[in-house]
Amino acid sequence: MLKIHIITPFPDFLVPILQQSMLKKSVERNKVEYNIINLFDFLNDKDSRIDDYPYGGGEGMIMKIKPIFKAFDSISLNNPRVIFPTPDGQLFNQKMAFDLSEEKEIVFICGHYKGIDQRVRDSLVTDEVSIGDYVLTNGEIPSLVIIDSIIRLIPGVLNDYKSAEKDSFFDDLLDGPHYTRPKEYKDLKVPDILLSGNHDKIKEWFLKKRLDKTTTRRKDLLKKYKLKNSGEKK
Ligand code: ADE
Repeated sequence: MLKIHIITPFPDFLVPILQQSMLKKSVERNKVEYNIINLFDFLNDKDSRIDDYPYGGGEGMIMKIKPIFKAFDSISLNNPRVIFPTPDGQLFNQKMAFDLSEEKEIVFICGHYKGIDQRVRDSLVTDEVSIGDYVLTNGEIPSLVIIDSIIRLIPGVLNDYKSAEKDSFFDDLLDGPHYTRPKEYKDLKVPDILLSGNHDKIKEWFLKKRLDKTTTRRKDLLKKYKLKNSGEKK
């Protein structure tokens, strides 16, 4: 069972999405538990804001250290990974998703405004993670992206775990094309090879499609794939 705590000033960003599809099924299947912690519950009367002006001046507001620490200290934790999604973090990838899917407890701290007090990052956070080279307005959406990619890798969450093994990135190749019924719609046909029943040829065809797509779209991945596969043969 993976326990996921999410410290957020905007729980409503998360709740409706965590109640859908595989994110919900992961809970029903007893593989995941979500604990959403509302940062506003950790303000005292004098301190009515979660953000304040930056020391030293500059643009934008900074999330305060105290409510975040109080929220964090309210959870009883057992050596968790603590993730802070941020555009200046390490670029997220499938390997990191696998690594995190083996954890027992993860805390997400969702940032807003210009950022959070650096002392939170220095003393609580174990992993600063970016989901791509662009900037979002909040930490909830990247947290959801990371959570979604993690939970689907926990055995027993997906109906067919084997499908996760064929994902893009699992073996450094992008995924290939998929078809289902009907065989023909308007003048759009399913490739004959898939209807041939020749499983070896189908496998070969699918690998070629994956290689072709990876070659045109992601030469960096293709290089990794070739390196790994030449290594295996030695
Ligand atoms: N917060 C804002 N932008 C982000 C990004 N690209 N990745 C992770 N967290 C973010």
